[in-house]
Amino acid sequence: MKISIIGTGYVGLVTGACMAQMGNNVICVDVDAGKIENLQRGVIPIYEPGLEAIVLENFKLGTLHFSTSLKEALDNSEICCIAVGTPMGEDGNADLQHVLQVARDVGKNMTHYIIVVDKSTVPVGTADKVRGILQEELGRRGLQIPFDVVSNPEFLKEGSAIEDFMRPDRVIVGADSPGAFEKIKELYEPFTKNHERLIAMDIRSAEMTKYAANAMLATKISFMNEIANICERVGADVNKVRIGIGSDSRIGYSFIYPGCGFGGSCFPKDVRALEKLALENGHPPEILKAVRTVNESQKKVLADKVINRFGKDLSAYTFAVWGLSFKPETDDTRDASSITIIGELTKHGAGIKAYDPKAIDVASNFYLKDHKNIEYVRSKYDALSGADALLLITEWKEFRSPDFDEMAKRLKNKIIFDGRNQYNKEKMHELGFEYHQIGVAS
Ligand SMILES: NC(=O)c1ccc[n+]([C@@H]2O[C@H](COP(=O)([O-])OP(=O)(O)OC[C@H]3O[C@@H](n4cnc5c(N)ncnc54)[C@H](O)[C@@H]3O)[C@@H](O)[C@H]2O)c1
Repeated sequence: MKISIIGTGYVGLVTGACMAQMGNNVICVDVDAGKIENLQRGVIPIYEPGLEAIVLENFKLGTLHFSTSLKEALDNSEICCIAVGTPMGEDGNADLQHVLQVARDVGKNMTHYIIVVDKSTVPVGTADKVRGILQEELGRRGLQIPFDVVSNPEFLKEGSAIEDFMRPDRVIVGADSPGAFEKIKELYEPFTKNHERLIAMDIRSAEMTKYAANAMLATKISFMNEIANICERVGADVNKVRIGIGSDSRIGYSFIYPGCGFGGSCFPKDVRALEKLALENGHPPEILKAVRTVNESQKKVLADKVINRFGKDLSAYTFAVWGLSFKPETDDTRDASSITIIGELTKHGAGIKAYDPKAIDVASNFYLKDHKNIEYVRSKYDALSGADALLLITEWKEFRSPDFDEMAKRLKNKIIFDGRNQYNKEKMHELGFEYHQIGVAS
């Protein structure tokens, strides 16, 4: 099939590369000319395991193309996927300007029947808006070209995006045209060979499914963080409680890890957007509101522990930070807990020595660029040299079994604030570390 993908970010590039890998002819479009130029030279703009290899392979094969021209892409495609960002707007609603702009540009440039597939996460009712804009633009041109709009929200996880796209848990397709549905079903057949994973529904339910899924996952995290905070105050160990409840098959072990809050480009904005959607439609979203407020305060818990231990004036101290990205195996630092924690500590005068396996450039150039007193280092042990304590913020694998002797040698004080509960408390005490975790009294 001939496919265009509009928006070449985490979702667009992965979608384009995976669809090309299955033999389709794909053009990825972006308004960011620098990004497109780099891709044409083989420079991949993001870190995502396995992505570079399939992008380069398919680009070489001629099945994956990159362009800034939407017109060129539309002329050569039967399906046009929208994968542009839908960030949080100032009022908390999803900012749809990029999605609606793409709809407008498609309406201005299309010359034949096309299926417009919305992969961006968008509030219920967006497909109707996209359809309206397409009709309006075609009307302006005096043309009556048929088209269909389909909702196909994306569920990939950064860090395992290729695996998730190639072997999805499910593919949600919201369509009101049997012809368009059949075409999208055919598109996904190579990804669902093992067993049928495609779930058909109406467009509004498909749009809602994406928000409900992210809100559910965010709820599990905030719930567990609330339990952790109670555990800490009553002398229980949340690590044991987690295993105790996870063993119940109705609850399960996934997404019940306590930590220093959720971040990233999806959960915070999607919970907020769903909250706004509920309010605007006359329903007070009590759970969603609590999920968000619990998370906002959870992001500060680790910094509060440091302040309780070292005092409000941190100007004499330097803290090592392990992990800046919002989760392991990605360089995505949007809304990461590290930004809140580092912001709190530097506000109190602290110096920071930060290390992350992949996110240093993006953090230092964008998300932390206004923060003073941060030195970035290229090894986890270098971050510890001369530091008064270590804060572990992102649970990258290389932090799981570090050389504790080396750490003890480099740190000024053997103190660890672990925001992801990576180590065994008893072992840390045996090794002589002062060890602070989430949800366990120190
Ligand atoms: N990142 C994820 O893990 C993930 C997972 C599932 C769903 N989503 C959703 O997918 C959507 C995209 O997310 P992302 O993380 O890939 O975003 P991103 O910010 O990484 O990429 C968006 C890209 O769209 C481009 N763009 C903006 N306007 C454009 C236009 N008019 N024409 C062409 N390109 C344009 C931007 O330059 C950017 O490169 C969002 O709605 C998001 O909520 C994201």
